[in-house]
Amino acid sequence: MENKVYKIAILASGAGSNAKNLILDSRKDSNKVYKVELVITNNKDAGVINICHQLGVPCFLWKKDSFLSPDFLINSLKNNSIDYIILAGFLLKISDKIIENFPKKIINIHPSLLPKYGGNGMYGNKVHQAVLDNKEKESGITIHFVNEHYDEGEIISQKKISLNELETINSLRERINILEHEEFPKTLRLIFK
Ligand code: GAR
Repeated sequence: MENKVYKIAILASGAGSNAKNLILDSRKDSNKVYKVELVITNNKDAGVINICHQLGVPCFLWKKDSFLSPDFLINSLKNNSIDYIILAGFLLKISDKIIENFPKKIINIHPSLLPKYGGNGMYGNKVHQAVLDNKEKESGITIHFVNEHYDEGEIISQKKISLNELETINSLRERINILEHEEFPKTLRLIFK
């Protein structure tokens, strides 16, 4: 029997390095586990749009309202037979209605060891700055299911790094980015098996 190839939609608001990494990972082996069917962004200036053009993945720009009253969005995902929604640097809140329609099928990556440094407004550099301001000895990444509260859904996996005394916001962001690129595809492949 042929293995199921899971169809995923990536939601991204920014540079899109995680989206790119997942697209490339999904194409790696002959026995495919998942396919990035489409990417959705809420930001017309998002780097992810260019990445999609370069890699030949359909990318759609949806206004903020489409996520607040999401019937059309949900129908579109269902019509494309999307199995999982993957948030890769997506900064809008996912409404309850989307969560009800995709129970345990929405997964987020966050650049800290949740529950620390999560919640509304905590993203990207803001997370790393707060970690440095508090002189934390370690940081890391969390991959988790999305529920109705920002960054509070069931944790699937976490990876830590130790911080050194010379850590800067740039070095921390870069190290976290590398960790995300290593771990996100691995974790998704385990879930899809
Ligand atoms: C990633 O570090 C991701 O963990 C973070 O945004 C970055 C997106 O980078 N997500 C959040 O902060 C969610 N609260 P990318 O656009 O290069 O993939």
